[in-house]
Amino acid sequence: MLDAVICRNIRYDVQVNKQREEILNIDSLIVNSGDQLAIMGPSGSGKTTLLRLLSGLVLPSSGTIQLLGEELTDKSEKERDEFRGRNIGMVFQEFQLFPALTAVENVLVQQLANSSMEIKTAKEKAITLLKELGLEKRLQNRVMQLSRGEQQRVAIARALLNNPKVLLVDEPTSNLDIKTGIHIMNQIQEISRSNGTTLITVTHDVHIAKGFSRLITMEEINKSYSGVLKEVLR
Ligand SMILES: Nc1ncnc2c1ncn2[C@@H]1O[C@H](COP(=O)(O)OP(=O)(O)OP(=O)(O)O)[C@@H](O)[C@H]1O
Ligand SMILES: [Mg+2]
Repeated sequence: MLDAVICRNIRYDVQVNKQREEILNIDSLIVNSGDQLAIMGPSGSGKTTLLRLLSGLVLPSSGTIQLLGEELTDKSEKERDEFRGRNIGMVFQEFQLFPALTAVENVLVQQLANSSMEIKTAKEKAITLLKELGLEKRLQNRVMQLSRGEQQRVAIARALLNNPKVLLVDEPTSNLDIKTGIHIMNQIQEISRSNGTTLITVTHDVHIAKGFSRLITMEEINKSYSGVLKEVLR
């Protein structure tokens, strides 16, 4: 089966106070199509940066990233945006919702901009997803009236609306109690499985990570991250 993700020799540098700093240095990361991968690692080890690279929001300083057989580093920003709209769902660490819009409107808003799905179909699907995620009583509430955990679930529904081929999720349960967190994660995994979606989730939570068939840590794959503890002990 086609690999969903193939990263080779990726490096990502940033400029901090006129100094170049290497944030990521990963020799190889391959994720098979339909797989479910959890990524763990301490704060600052580059998890979010890796998801941003995989989504094509940013390009690596060097190396190559293939998603669904297409080379992201060969694409323009516009092509990457279009590719992301068609193929990738993202749940960001800070949900990036529109506070004054309702839960349903937030799920739909991206869809209206770049999809061929009919509005009626999209709306029905948005409502179904929100109900599946336990928000049946919050459909018409403005997002700013929702709790953090509820907002997170709106962001999850938004990412799932398009049946993405690859779903990238950054700490999807960080605002939820353990029980709700595991429940929501199970649902994300179940929906991904039934759609054949490749799921890559960043999590701090070992209870969540345990539910995944594959787990990697940033300490294992990111050569530019030596670990805070190691630094302190040196
Ligand atoms: N644009 C940038 N400019 C400067 N430094 C950056 C930039 N983006 C990321 N970094 C640094 O890169 C490191 C990795 O950041 P990243 O957000 O990927 O960590 P993370 O593993 O997601 O952490 P957390 O668990 O706290 O979310 C951090 O030290 C961060 O300060
Ligand atoms: Mg992060």
